Amino acid sequence: MKPTTLSLHTKFQIGQVDPRIFGGFLEHMGRCVYEGVYHSDSAHADENGFRSDSLTALKRLQMTAMRYPGGNFASGYHWMDGIGPKQQRPTVRDLAWQSIEPNQFGTDEYIQLCRSMGWTPMLTANLGTGTPEEARNWVEYCNAPPGTRYADMRAANGSIAPHAVKLWCLGNEMDGPWQLGHVPAGQYAIRAQQAAKMMKDTDRSIELVACGSCTIDMDTYMAWDHEVLDYLGDYTDYVSLHRYVGNHENDTANYLAITNSIDRQIEEMDAVCRFIQAKRRSKKRAYLCFDEWNVWYKNQEMDGEGKFAPHLIEEVYNLEDALVIAGFFHSFLRHADVLKIANIAQIANVIAPILTRGDDLLVQSIFYPFEMFSRRREGVSLQTRVEGPSYESQSYGRVHMIDASAILGESKLHLFLSNRSLDESAEVQIQLTDDEFIGLDNAEILTGSDPKQANSFEQPDQIASIPFDNTHVVPNQATVQLPPLSFVAMTLDL
Ligand code: AHR
Repeated sequence: MKPTTLSLHTKFQIGQVDPRIFGGFLEHMGRCVYEGVYHSDSAHADENGFRSDSLTALKRLQMTAMRYPGGNFASGYHWMDGIGPKQQRPTVRDLAWQSIEPNQFGTDEYIQLCRSMGWTPMLTANLGTGTPEEARNWVEYCNAPPGTRYADMRAANGSIAPHAVKLWCLGNEMDGPWQLGHVPAGQYAIRAQQAAKMMKDTDRSIELVACGSCTIDMDTYMAWDHEVLDYLGDYTDYVSLHRYVGNHENDTANYLAITNSIDRQIEEMDAVCRFIQAKRRSKKRAYLCFDEWNVWYKNQEMDGEGKFAPHLIEEVYNLEDALVIAGFFHSFLRHADVLKIANIAQIANVIAPILTRGDDLLVQSIFYPFEMFSRRREGVSLQTRVEGPSYESQSYGRVHMIDASAILGESKLHLFLSNRSLDESAEVQIQLTDDEFIGLDNAEILTGSDPKQANSFEQPDQIASIPFDNTHVVPNQATVQLPPLSFVAMTLDL
């Protein structure tokens, strides 16, 4: 393959990388909460019932905004079921996943977990079967100083200081007919506006995320967003995007080109935000919150059959999936000016980077690209000019063989390079027009011999990042040799 040139200029900046794009999603679904992060029967349970092996692994990802409690679960969840003495909390039926919810993990346990993990709390209010007032009351429970009803409940439950939850979602996927309480756009907009007003009247410092289109495939795509954002006006700070992708046709080259479609989805949603801002002649513009994203297509078990913590959508991830996860991050960095929050869905067991089985824990392939980006996330995203071999994909148009993103840090350049070729290695020549490389600080690679190669409890280290040294750095150029089907993250000193 002919070499690829990657040209960069420190002044050609896209935007500051918002650390919240390294967010996660903890839903009461399957074994995400119970057995995933909270497991009082486990040998790994700490004094609070949290699973220390899962949390030790997740700490490596340095996640930020942690969305909770759903997802579809949120649209039937009444937050007051999950507070107070545990033995007095009700066991209820969760209709979203046909499961049993004992409410042993609720708001206060979640906040405690966020504090211990350094996560930023992000709560999804129930705008499905719940009322705007119930959402407002939750804001008071979490954020008001003691002295009024719900804040006093929190204090009585052990937290005198407010939980200070700044990020709130106005429901979940309300455009989806599968959603409890689903309504057409106009009705959702009224419900969301009523909730938003009361929530912000309770705490003026909170930020709100309105439900945007949850898939690009529905007839309401973009029309929903237009109507909702127009009605909500300045009440919303962000609009949500969701995306689950998969290699449905078993065509790896096509699958790896899906970044074009992710770029496009972000740009289309941003276009609606800009349009509404212009139409309303507003100073305020809604930014983007990609609050569910991942690979999900192999496991479709979504019926909990009336069980507690059933095995639901426990997707097993392979090398090509991990490369697609890297592709999501390339795309997020390319849009750092408009994309402010993103939450990989989910964090444990349910379409997740880690799986538990009894007291064992498995790190899946998709864990690694998240970690490789997250370790090098501080700085400003730079424009990347890629020139080199490309191919025409079946569904997503033409893509370069090399996908790239870059972050300019303090005297450092963080580079992220994917080689989409199935069978050829690629040379990438990196030129920084207005500065010089002093040397390589560190680099790691994720690759394998087969796109379907995956980790298992029996063979846990098939796909893992390892140190990488196939680079040559001189002041005006860094040259990297990437094997086929690989992702490299590196930091160069400037
Ligand atoms: O993440 C799994 C589910 O996918 C979420 O609960 C829902 O919002 C989406 O459809």
